Amino acid sequence: MAIEIKSPREIDAMRVVSAMAAETLLLVGEKLRAGMSTDDINTIVHEDTIRRGARPSPLNYRGFPKSVCTSVNDVVCHGIPGAQILRDGDIVNVDVTSFYGGFHGDTSATFYIGTPSVQAKKVTEIARVALELGIAEVKEGARLGDIGAAIQEYVEAQGCSVVRDFVGHGIGRKFHEDPQVKHYGKRGTGERLRAGMVFTIEPMVNLGRFEVVVDEKDDWTVTTVDGSLSAQFEHTLVVTKTGHEVLTRRAQPLRGSENIASSAVLV
Ligand code: MF3
Ligand code: CO
Ligand code: CO
Repeated sequence: MAIEIKSPREIDAMRVVSAMAAETLLLVGEKLRAGMSTDDINTIVHEDTIRRGARPSPLNYRGFPKSVCTSVNDVVCHGIPGAQILRDGDIVNVDVTSFYGGFHGDTSATFYIGTPSVQAKKVTEIARVALELGIAEVKEGARLGDIGAAIQEYVEAQGCSVVRDFVGHGIGRKFHEDPQVKHYGKRGTGERLRAGMVFTIEPMVNLGRFEVVVDEKDDWTVTTVDGSLSAQFEHTLVVTKTGHEVLTRRAQPLRGSENIASSAVLV
């Protein structure tokens, strides 16, 4: 399938829903505490999304039972919120997708609960930088492979690995559209980027091996095959003539993630 070019009006609508998802993620950072369950995160995201007049895209998407994905420690992605209690030292990725005005906006971040281990901090900070390096490649005329290469080169140079089985994606009136945005690959390969394309970049970085397994019981939860920690960050962005616009860019730092150097902990 061809990659859609969104019109300026469509991009305006995507700016609105993407800002909503970004705001909801900021609220999660404000509220996250050790002792909360992942279901508590689901409640926060669900209620804030509805309060904005939006819908949580994950709910009932291909049978997904909750309004947000919460992926703790060795869970790579698609963790289902439930009774699990967040404890000091855990890392949790919260992946918020909102639907409003006919369009989806998708963004995630990994948060620190309490004081992270050296290993948890390493994999999380590498994933954070990997997303920004991928975003920096995006401009009209660049190739999809440039994004993947920039991410893979950095992550592997740090001794971590890039998950292959899950990728970024076009986004718009549908949650997942073309193209697939791989977080690995070769420069100068893949589709050429054109102004008006809207997609996510969402590298999943493992401390150990890149291979993952999907839980046989729930058919959703993805974990690292070697039990190593995994972290992820995601933004929705639009390609422009001169570069890009990150539609899910936050107005403030995320508490419990981007303020780690200063205040360090969520207690
Ligand atoms: N938000 C995820 C992504 O970034 C997709 C989650 S699908 C769900 O693409 F069904 F698990 F919500
Ligand atoms: Co997402
Ligand atoms: Co996504």
